[in-house]
Amino acid sequence: MSHGPVWHPFTQHALQPEAIEIARAEGAWLERPDGSRILDAISSWWVITHGHRHPRIIDAIKRQADQLDQVIFAGFTHHPAEELAARLTKRVGLPHLFFSDSGSTAVEVALKMALGYWRNQGLNRTRIIAFEHAYHGDTIGTMSAGARGVFNAPYEPLLFDVTRLPFPAKGKEQDTLAALRAATADGQAAALIVEPLILGAGGMLTYSPQVLAEMARICRETQTLFIADEVMTGFGRTGTFLASEQAQVTPDILCLAKGITGGSMPLAVTLASSAIYEAHYSPDRRKTFFHSSSYTANPIACAAALANLDVWDEEAVATKIVRLSQWQRELGESLRNDPRFTDARFCGTIAAFDLKVADEGYLASIGPKLYDFFLSRGLLLRPLGNTIYIMPPYCITRDELASLYEAIRAAADTFGARA
Ligand SMILES: Cc1ncc(COP(=O)(O)O)c(C=O)c1O
Repeated sequence: MSHGPVWHPFTQHALQPEAIEIARAEGAWLERPDGSRILDAISSWWVITHGHRHPRIIDAIKRQADQLDQVIFAGFTHHPAEELAARLTKRVGLPHLFFSDSGSTAVEVALKMALGYWRNQGLNRTRIIAFEHAYHGDTIGTMSAGARGVFNAPYEPLLFDVTRLPFPAKGKEQDTLAALRAATADGQAAALIVEPLILGAGGMLTYSPQVLAEMARICRETQTLFIADEVMTGFGRTGTFLASEQAQVTPDILCLAKGITGGSMPLAVTLASSAIYEAHYSPDRRKTFFHSSSYTANPIACAAALANLDVWDEEAVATKIVRLSQWQRELGESLRNDPRFTDARFCGTIAAFDLKVADEGYLASIGPKLYDFFLSRGLLLRPLGNTIYIMPPYCITRDELASLYEAIRAAADTFGARA
């Protein structure tokens, strides 16, 4: 039994007493104090995009730390925040940007903006619409929008009700669209929130850009706000800078975090249309957008995010993403045809496969066994139950990726049910 002071996230300490210490990292690799290495095949929980310690981003962090470490952001501002806001708003086509520090806070802010938008106009539209299997974070508001299950059962009494849409699995798209039409028909819904193209923690479930575009159209028609939670999908994961681009959708509210600093520093933003901003713009102080956190727009994190945009503008990021996406499909083909797996799916740089086992789902007993199996081979893969996914940094080489596929096949040899 471990009684150390640190309480780790999503960790059952009674079953997992020892955390693995990492001393340094570079590119796609984590290094332990003894010098042994682990391939970071999940980008350290989906945050690292170009690779660990991209020199340009690290250099920007060092330079900014020498100038301004932190300053209150209510009533004050600084150049890295101003420049980042100018460049990001231009890049994504939404004119206003609110800073916070994690994916969860970016989504909380989005939900609060949506409700404030309606209330400040004197309208009582408070109902949120969300997908089944959705994951939007671990705060009370974001858990409310997310799927109910083992993760949030103890907090259920605190969660607000949302209207749930069936997931638009292949062949079931019309059910989702019909449910959205029904949920918006009375013109009373406040907003729809979606993870565009792929639901992450819910099991790496993919759906088509056509459905996304149609959902956005229905929202427009019924003046329901459309919130895109691109916390995981943003910054290239799905093959384009934003996943929404593939459906030619500009949301009313957009949440970005994780890859915004290339994964180097905690930072998040919620971007909003001018209508959302205007609804809060008033001489009436009660219409203020009442949200803040102490580290809003931390200058060092903003400098890292600016350097990340420079990397996007000046380096071959798009080429690397296209190449990685192709490798995933080529190497994943063997698993697509392997009867021990079902539902091979690819979304840009992400690949996921379900290992056929007797008990499925997040708490499937196979999950921890697979995790240990991969770690024993120096690979960080963190299956969601029996769903094995690979979401590596864009700098991974083809050989490194191939070693992951080889390990997944070996895992099936060890644990997989034969078809
Ligand atoms: C789609 C999505 N939204 C929100 C979050 C929450 O982000 P954070 O863990 O930074 O709070 C995540 C985290 O994985 C996510 O995937």
